[in-house]
Amino acid sequence: MNENLIEKLDEALEYLKARYAGPIDIGIVLGSGLGSLVGEIADPVIVDFREIPHFPVSTVSGHAGTVIMGKLEGKTVFCMNGRVHYYEGYDMCTLAFPIQLMRRLGIRDLLLTNACGCVNTDWAPGELMVIKDHIKLVQDNPLRGMNHDALGSRFFDMTHAYDATLREHAKRCASQLGMTVREGVYLWFSGPSYETPAEIRMARLFGADAVGMSTVPEAIAASHVGLRTLGICCLTNMAAGILDKPLNHEEVLDVSQKVKASFISLVKDILSGWPSVEG
Ligand code: HPA
Repeated sequence: MNENLIEKLDEALEYLKARYAGPIDIGIVLGSGLGSLVGEIADPVIVDFREIPHFPVSTVSGHAGTVIMGKLEGKTVFCMNGRVHYYEGYDMCTLAFPIQLMRRLGIRDLLLTNACGCVNTDWAPGELMVIKDHIKLVQDNPLRGMNHDALGSRFFDMTHAYDATLREHAKRCASQLGMTVREGVYLWFSGPSYETPAEIRMARLFGADAVGMSTVPEAIAASHVGLRTLGICCLTNMAAGILDKPLNHEEVLDVSQKVKASFISLVKDILSGWPSVEG
């Protein structure tokens, strides 16, 4: 659970400050198969998740498990190449740790990315989606347990969990690049099983456009600490039961690999013109 959380965050912070001294502007989490963005980061300082005190370690293929701190499009970034998930067995509060750490590092803005299943039948695999809002059906919550007032309030608003200015900016960047980018609702399932066709029909009835196994715990933790968040999904497959074929992780990695060039150009454009907190 989250006892001694502030002490643990401070230990991790001290370690990272010793590795990278300067201020950091933006936190980034790269989802399955989207790690190629790290090749674009200049003057990188690369730290394995395992080296950072109390940092949870990723066990999934397609998730490297490194933090890269460096410069990208004029911004200093703290980029997680890979992440940890609930289905790996971590407590929800553990999933919040990297996000809380980013805030302690002085970061104000966050870009969450993922690979996910497409529920909206008007859309297609290989397209990108800006997250407008999310649905969490799993009852657990990363902020369950003792609240640390130094991080955020006991009860906190989720109305603007995905910042409208950042969403508009992302859509503008996509249209300037001539790319189709969707905007929709992401429904979080805990995994590791993919959903059943009946669950996908339910997701659609509930207003979801995409389903996935990540991002939501992080977005909740981000709202708690007051990070402005942008979420970008790579729709890697039609969700269960839409097409007459089974789902598998290889397809997810394969499609996210195929979109990597457009994903990288979009993220670079988004970062380069990233609207300041004030503006
Ligand atoms: N469901 C859940 N998570 C996913 C999917 C999916 O169809 N595709 C990629 N991640």
